[in-house]
Amino acid sequence: CGIVGYIGDRQATEFLMDGLAKLEYRGYDSAGIAVYHDDKITVQKKVGRLVNLQKVVEEHPNVGTVGIGHTRWATHGGPSDMNSHPHTDEKGDFAVVHNGIIENYLELKEELIGKGYHFKSETDTEVVAHLCADMYDGDFASTVRHVLLRLRGSFSLVFMCRFEPDKIICSKRDNPLIIGLGNGENYIASDIPAILSYTRRTYILNDEEMAIVQKDKIWVTDYEGIPISKKVFEVNWDAEAAEKGGFEHFMLKEIYEQPKAIRDTMSCRIANDGTHVVFDELKWTPEDVKSIDKILITACGTAYHAGLLAKYFIEKIAKIPVEVDIASEYRYRDPLTDHKTLCIVISQSGETIDTLAALKEAKRRGARSLAVTNVLGSSISREADQVVYTWAGPEIAVASTKAYTTQLVALLLLSLYMGQLNGELDAELEGNILSDLMNVPDQCQQIFDHVEDIHAYANQFKEKEDVFFIGRSMDYALAMEGALKLKEISYIHAEAYAGGELKHGTLALIISGVPVIALATQRNVEEKMISNIKEVKARDAFVVGVVQEHDTEVAKCVDAIITIPKTSNFVVPIMTVIPLQLLAYYTAVVRGNDVDKPRNLAKSVTVE
Ligand code: G6P
Repeated sequence: CGIVGYIGDRQATEFLMDGLAKLEYRGYDSAGIAVYHDDKITVQKKVGRLVNLQKVVEEHPNVGTVGIGHTRWATHGGPSDMNSHPHTDEKGDFAVVHNGIIENYLELKEELIGKGYHFKSETDTEVVAHLCADMYDGDFASTVRHVLLRLRGSFSLVFMCRFEPDKIICSKRDNPLIIGLGNGENYIASDIPAILSYTRRTYILNDEEMAIVQKDKIWVTDYEGIPISKKVFEVNWDAEAAEKGGFEHFMLKEIYEQPKAIRDTMSCRIANDGTHVVFDELKWTPEDVKSIDKILITACGTAYHAGLLAKYFIEKIAKIPVEVDIASEYRYRDPLTDHKTLCIVISQSGETIDTLAALKEAKRRGARSLAVTNVLGSSISREADQVVYTWAGPEIAVASTKAYTTQLVALLLLSLYMGQLNGELDAELEGNILSDLMNVPDQCQQIFDHVEDIHAYANQFKEKEDVFFIGRSMDYALAMEGALKLKEISYIHAEAYAGGELKHGTLALIISGVPVIALATQRNVEEKMISNIKEVKARDAFVVGVVQEHDTEVAKCVDAIITIPKTSNFVVPIMTVIPLQLLAYYTAVVRGNDVDKPRNLAKSVTVE
């Protein structure tokens, strides 16, 4: 979900609607605003995309200079006008918007129903509005503070009160919330893009801080009311970066931003002479690395796939055993994690609740922790002991692209750094990998130059019901990401298989004309991949081989070919994924899908 709030002298709706548009990627099944004017809080909310709300607001302008807004991704209660936020108490004295889940809402709801309160929605959020009314002690701030103390679970919450319209109050736990500082006006938002065109000066709220925001004053306290002094955080993101800038979709724009994102992520971490890696943000000693006897990587979705590749990087380069686990699985499996474990969490948004919870669990078991994330000041970045940022810039499309490639770059550099420190890495190999890596941004252009071929495959696949991705070694991890991309935006059933596993089941599904994307960029397993390609060819599959330039052997036995510029085995995955992203993108486009906002999915999943 996305949250916004405004207090100042201008019409609040202006900022609220604009901010919500910037945050629509965080949830888009319904939206709403509440604005105070003339002793009354007026709520307007509408199921569906923000344009639906926009129409309502245009027809019935919601006048007033203080307000809150929300764009929703349903959790408790399906998408409907009634379940949309803001929620109010029965009298309309309090209005609330919320991200996250109030775990004890049923218990609170029963208690309130027992006291005679009536509920209009199925949401957990409405409980908070009624609680405000029930616990109101004549002071807005003290009421909110007491309400917050009764809530279990995760939230970012913004409150308005009819009795004290000169302030908005907000607080958070395990969900993001920032305050944008203006002149004689202040803004609240769940994410930076919402406020970028208004101000770059922000306060980033920490868990269990509560802010009382007035147009020219902000107090931050803890839940006891003890004041907390906040540092201003200057956002240096370009406003342009959060816009589509000429491309038809954010996803395509972000695919094309990869050369820059990769360059930004690596350049500050490679020594000027290009021979070795420097991680100023880590400053590890050889002892720090030698004391690690196991690395646990945990993440969700695309970030998890980056973790699968990182296992190859770290084990081959730094020779430290790595286990990779889906964050939601790790949490509940009673893992063997201890103080000799380094837990690496990977998360574009830094807000994925499963990843955050897995990180907390690993820390609870004594692990050291490191986050690889794209969002400064995100919950995961603050929870981890140390952070390596990917410098991909804001990623808006739900399907992750540049975040993934920059994660691969950061994790490859990290493997080199560890190998450098524990003495497992040969200096010559390091120099070679780094020089290959530094060529990647320019080499990407060669892939973009052949985008028309990929477009043609997309046209060919648009009516297909199944597509298979096969690969071995690092190409197997990439195959999973290729299949995920295709599934999430084209809605075609796609599966990834390790080449060697075909004969154990999947081969039964290979019939005439089924597309098989065979990733064969890893030279050490090339012959084995050729056998697998022959297996599917014998069943008359349509095989697209993905190979490194000059690779004639594979080219001989496939129906079509995608060529990746020549480079080393460690570096090639960073480029191989790009045609897979483009294939998913163009297939989704020719099928007429909403590429940036695929059905049922959200960019940042802050609920379990
Ligand atoms: C959602 C997004 C995916 C993303 C995953 C993990 O499912 O749609 O694209 O890979 O969350 O997100 P994170 O922000 O933790 O990388």
